[in-house]
Amino acid sequence: MLNIAVFASGRGSNFQSIIDSIKAGEIPAEIKILVSDTQTAGALKRAEREDIENIYINPDHFETKKDYEEELLSILEGVNTDLVVLAGYMRILSPLFVKHFKNRIVNIHPSLLPAFRGLDAQKQALDYGVKHSGCTVHFVDQGMDTGPIIMQAVVPVKQDDSADDLAARILKEEHRIYPESIKLIAEDKITIEGRKVKILKEEN
Ligand code: GRF
Repeated sequence: MLNIAVFASGRGSNFQSIIDSIKAGEIPAEIKILVSDTQTAGALKRAEREDIENIYINPDHFETKKDYEEELLSILEGVNTDLVVLAGYMRILSPLFVKHFKNRIVNIHPSLLPAFRGLDAQKQALDYGVKHSGCTVHFVDQGMDTGPIIMQAVVPVKQDDSADDLAARILKEEHRIYPESIKLIAEDKITIEGRKVKILKEEN
């Protein structure tokens, strides 16, 4: 059983999709804790509702980022975390933190990486005029949205889309491929070779 810790800053719809897949018996994993840096995060309320241990940690209460992350690390160790799942967590983790959980942190980003890294990816895609966009699940390395790609899904960009229209179309796919990716990790079906993530195929 894979022990998961989820970090979220916002509404937590991806967090919810992972909860639902685990509850449906689709992923051999347990969410041990939800950590948020935002007191009003919807994700905290969802965790409460689902009876998942949750904690709000105010980063401003720490003198340095290092102190804040040491607190995070000790919380993660306390629940024997195997995998850290970033689900709308709006902070960059330091190289030290990433090193500590090397290849054991995943993120979802609302674009087809490597295009449109960083904030407002859906608006970036619209402004650029691409005809397709989508979402990417990837391992977290020391860059921003640069780690090895696990899974992607493509959606069309429609002529009259607002950033919200496109975000909603992408979000639907996020809710599908994030749980699917975590399932592969939980079932130990993923290997990483350099930048490349390989998915082990069932032999039959
Ligand atoms: C999603 O669009 C995700 O791709 C991005 O942040 C958003 C989080 O949404 N990293 P939610 O909090 O999971 O609803």
